Amino acid sequence: MEPVNSGDLSAFLMEKGHLVLGSGWHPSLFHAEVDSLTGVVKILTPRIVQTNSDSGLDDAATVDQILAQPCIGSVATLSDSFSDWLSSNPLNGDESIAIRWSRHGERKPGIKGIELAKEMGGILTDAGYKIELETPGQLIELLIDGEELYWGTPLLKEPPRKGWKDRVATQRPFFKPVSLDPRHARLMLNLAGKKGPLLDPMCGTGGILIESAASGIESTGVDLDPEMVAGTQQNLEWSGAKARVICGDATRLSELDISGIKMVCFDPPYGRNAWRSDSTPELFSSVLDSLHSVCSGDAVVCCMLPTTPDGTLVMGMEWHDVEQLFSSAGWNMDGDWFIPVHASLGRRLVRAVRLHS
Ligand SMILES: C[S@@+](CC[C@H](N)C(=O)[O-])C[C@H]1O[C@@H](n2cnc3c(N)ncnc32)[C@H](O)[C@@H]1O
Repeated sequence: MEPVNSGDLSAFLMEKGHLVLGSGWHPSLFHAEVDSLTGVVKILTPRIVQTNSDSGLDDAATVDQILAQPCIGSVATLSDSFSDWLSSNPLNGDESIAIRWSRHGERKPGIKGIELAKEMGGILTDAGYKIELETPGQLIELLIDGEELYWGTPLLKEPPRKGWKDRVATQRPFFKPVSLDPRHARLMLNLAGKKGPLLDPMCGTGGILIESAASGIESTGVDLDPEMVAGTQQNLEWSGAKARVICGDATRLSELDISGIKMVCFDPPYGRNAWRSDSTPELFSSVLDSLHSVCSGDAVVCCMLPTTPDGTLVMGMEWHDVEQLFSSAGWNMDGDWFIPVHASLGRRLVRAVRLHS
């Protein structure tokens, strides 16, 4: 990925590709998720990236909008660049148009979205288009960051995660405080590249399995606790997704008729949930070893690790000790992101690729 643009953006029409707007929640995870799904051509701002395609982005956890026929301009050159854009991207003359604007990033005094939208509306009217703000037939979306402007035609009616609200953990028949929300589960699957078959070796209530199976990925879950296994099965039935669920030990996966796994997503136990006698680091290290044996080729593991609120201690360990655990079990860490959770917990989302033995 190329770094954030330094700000010298003279107006240019993008011949192809898309502009993708992030939710603003976690910019570096947004960049990484889009890069994993479709490839980022350029990071333009913390919330806006340029891609060559929109493939897979309608399932992205951190995306708010995708703009086709994109253009990058500035407040100073808006009139010329919008006119040029309109000539090369004629809109449907039979449908009315509205311009929807929003601000993302720096706020510059004197720059008003409503005024910019009016300027664009004037150009559209002069070109013979009908403006209709209440029930437009088509939209142009304008994103404002300081003096920089980004626009195009929006492809999404709403952010993808809004479509998952019926599946949030608290709606499921079997719920525990450890249950992962669709947004975090999807994020892990997307960062891991959505290449099945998938294994969640500590599936708990099935938060990851529901999302992976709903995406059509062949999925298997394992949990040591029979109550969790029964609860996951109940949740899967409720969601209509199909996955295999096994009661077993994640440190002895090769005994469970599991092989050829290409993607692993999981969150290991933390706090009172680490109910086995093993201390968490030892348990985690054995799980990584065990996973290596049931995975094939360059499988990817993506996991959400509990940390101190500032992210410095991960499952009670220093970060370099965690890295050491991954590499000694045959996994090459290629990404990690800190996610603050609340006053007494943080999380570190880690991605690693299997090294061939
Ligand atoms: C944090 S929870 C997982 C939550 C899950 N992602 C969800 O959405 O509900 C961790 C799970 O690991 C399971 N577990 C603990 N030790 C295990 C082991 N040795 N093998 C398999 N599962 C284990 C616990 O029973 C618990 O359900």
